[in-house]
Amino acid sequence: MQHPITLVRLSPDSPHVATVASWTHAEWGHLNPDFTADTWRDAFRRECGDGGVPSVFVAMAGDQPVGTAALMAEDMDTRPDLTPWLASVFVLPEWRGQGIASTLIRRVEEEAVACGVDYFYLFTPDQQALYRRLGWRDHEELSYRGEDVTIMRRQLEA
Ligand SMILES: CC(C)(COP(=O)(O)OP(=O)(O)OC[C@H]1O[C@@H](n2cnc3c(N)ncnc32)[C@H](O)[C@@H]1OP(=O)(O)O)[C@@H](O)C(=O)NCCC(=O)NCCS
Repeated sequence: MQHPITLVRLSPDSPHVATVASWTHAEWGHLNPDFTADTWRDAFRRECGDGGVPSVFVAMAGDQPVGTAALMAEDMDTRPDLTPWLASVFVLPEWRGQGIASTLIRRVEEEAVACGVDYFYLFTPDQQALYRRLGWRDHEELSYRGEDVTIMRRQLEA
């Protein structure tokens, strides 16, 4: 039987930091080829703040991490004018299609509202439909590190 999903804030000293960083490195490491697996993990650990920006959340099935999403000050180095960002949205393949990413995204939105953010941003090459369903709007199309992506924006209400 599968465990119910709970969301937890990832703290920098959590044993799950290495696991979650390995997922995001496998998925997005190619966008940042200067990072090794170790420097990526160390940078990811620094995003594990204790409230507001930055914050990382993890979906847990019992004691197993199965998904993540983060609130970060920067995610696209060519667009420092936009901040903060929803970033690192990832769910393990066998746990997809159950609303886990949607729940994580809502949790990051709550965190952004709590720290007074009016708008926040994400970029995606192919998940626009998921985010539109959750109230995100297309903001800009551009090429980023060789990939066509959409910057999307979410208006938040306190
Ligand atoms: C994109 C990704 C995070 C989605 O994770 P997920 O947990 O499957 O997402 P959700 O379940 O919240 O939503 C996905 C779909 O499942 C459907 N769904 C949601 N709850 C459901 C439920 N209880 N039962 C069945 N289907 C459900 C949703 O309608 C949604 O459909 P859509 O794709 O047509 O919008 C996941 O596929 C992933 O990690 N991909 C690789 C990394 C990636 O692309 N990340 C996004 C970067 S921008």
